[in-house]
Amino acid sequence: MRTLTNDSTRFFQSVLRRLASKARRSAESIELRAIAALDSGGPFSSSHADQKQTIIHSTNYNMLTSESEDYYAEQYWAQILPMLPVKDSIKSILDLGCGQGRMSMRFASRYRQADVTGIDISEAALMTARSAAASEGIDNVVFTCSEIGEELKRTQSRSVDIAVMTEVAFYHPNWINEFARLVEVLKDKGLFIGSFRTTYYNVLLLLKDNRFADARRVMNSSSGPLSPGREIQFSWIHADELRNVMQASGLEVLSVSAVGSCSGIPGDPHALISRPGILQDHERKILMEIEMSLNTHVPDAGRYVLVVARKSTSSTSPVVFP
Ligand SMILES: C[S@@+](CC[C@H](N)C(=O)[O-])C[C@H]1O[C@@H](n2cnc3c(N)ncnc32)[C@H](O)[C@@H]1O
Repeated sequence: MRTLTNDSTRFFQSVLRRLASKARRSAESIELRAIAALDSGGPFSSSHADQKQTIIHSTNYNMLTSESEDYYAEQYWAQILPMLPVKDSIKSILDLGCGQGRMSMRFASRYRQADVTGIDISEAALMTARSAAASEGIDNVVFTCSEIGEELKRTQSRSVDIAVMTEVAFYHPNWINEFARLVEVLKDKGLFIGSFRTTYYNVLLLLKDNRFADARRVMNSSSGPLSPGREIQFSWIHADELRNVMQASGLEVLSVSAVGSCSGIPGDPHALISRPGILQDHERKILMEIEMSLNTHVPDAGRYVLVVARKSTSSTSPVVFP
């Protein structure tokens, strides 16, 4: 048995590599398959600049105003809210890959006494976020242009109460290599709230277009390209793999649930079932009720899988790898 202390990032990475090679030897080991795939190369290796430019370009899509995104923000919040700590205990919140700030602003509004920092690599998205916060009169949020890995290096260890990373990891497969540092910057009992693209979503997406070989590749890996001829790397994960990564990182999982188990935005396979943005108010309300009831039963079926996890105090719950 080996014990991982909070500041031993290098050891964490070597353990990940060891787990990864073990996973490669064992095709049945679904718990470790995600780690193996992600360990084989991140997005910012050979085609760093392309990946970054594509991500920045993608933020032309405005998460504050685009169809159904308000519905999904509401659904995130409704799922997260019951697990949020009392208001005056929270001082520092970090929203990694905040985009136009739809989640940062919700956190800043709930925790008016806290300092909320939203970071993103897209200055355009941040400008939209700043003006939205100003027009809402939210003054305890700062939006800064920064890359997640760099931001985590700069952030003081044990200084963050809540770290948020919603709908970011699918574009940032390197998240898993940075996750030990993310856990380090959390205070004891700090919360991590993140959402990740589900394997199921990508398989549906590819099967919908008769791309059977690509769908099989997605099933057997956890990162890689999705569009033919493009080098852009994505990541995806099963709910049980996500749970295992959280637990292996010293976090206690409070909940794992779907976001959008029966609905989507245009382009999503789920949009063939239902699109919140074009529904009448009463229909949208019923859809929300149904998804809120289903989400914990079918976490893999979501457009994203949402995890809420709490850092264990190092004295009571060290991270242990067999
Ligand atoms: C789909 S948007 C989600 C925005 C926000 N988290 C939300 O839920 O509304 C993904 C965001 O992640 C940002 N992003 C992706 N990789 C990043 C990285 N390595 N560092 C900082 N931001 C990143 C993108 O620029 C984009 O704004």
